[in-house]
Amino acid sequence: MTPADPRAAESLLAFWAEAGVDAMLLDVAVDRIEAGKIVPPRPPERKAAAPTSAVRKPGLAPDVASAVIEARRLAAEARDLDALKAAISGFDGCPLKFEGARQAVFSRGAADAPLLVIGEGPGAEEDARGEPFVGKAGQLLDKMFAAAGLTDRVFITNTVFWRPPGNRTPTPQEQAVCQPFLERAIELVAPKMLLLVGAPSAKSMLKRDEGILSLRGRWFEWRSESGELELPAMPTLHPAFLLRQPAAKKKAWSDLLTLTERLDRPERGG
Ligand code: URA
Repeated sequence: MTPADPRAAESLLAFWAEAGVDAMLLDVAVDRIEAGKIVPPRPPERKAAAPTSAVRKPGLAPDVASAVIEARRLAAEARDLDALKAAISGFDGCPLKFEGARQAVFSRGAADAPLLVIGEGPGAEEDARGEPFVGKAGQLLDKMFAAAGLTDRVFITNTVFWRPPGNRTPTPQEQAVCQPFLERAIELVAPKMLLLVGAPSAKSMLKRDEGILSLRGRWFEWRSESGELELPAMPTLHPAFLLRQPAAKKKAWSDLLTLTERLDRPERGG
């Protein structure tokens, strides 16, 4: 018998099942007491179209690539933000959905905001309440926005829409399958600029590898996957980091001032 022998694999699986093994190990341990779940449901079989080389993103595993294709299709069909939220909730292509998350967490804020804010991913509080940035970090972010005159001028979302177990950083694959929905949100809100909160957001949106301390406070041009959308984007420090390192708040404040100065700059006509 070789490891590739399907009968060997079947018999090994049957042995494990009999021995009581009912879940695969993940990269990070699932805190099932925290998550309040016993066993996460298995994702139903996806009926996504087979990826074609024309639309398949290079470098992605086939299952991720087909989930991206399905996400693109669903996102493109969403005519407004409510439809997009429903499409995200019904999407089964992001593994995070099946790793203990209670619900999808999409967005909060003004649907026509000039500033679109992108965080890393929902935490425990967000998972429980179904809205992004509503825990301690979110409260600090709101205070900063209020001080900068940005309350009611922001639309807030994340790179992934389900809570990563144990609040770990979302993987590039998880971000990739959520990205079509995020891009559709950007298209529907049509903001003037993006604020990328924290390293995982900045790195994923800008496809850059530098640390957040080097990226923060600088202007970059964000471009959508199709190249059709382009917007100025500024990375800044994550409020959870600021709660741990209050001395860094003045850097984040300086970033917000730079950003609001551009946001409020009158646009030059023709
Ligand atoms: N941190 C994030 O990056 N996003 C949230 O929604 C909450 C905490």
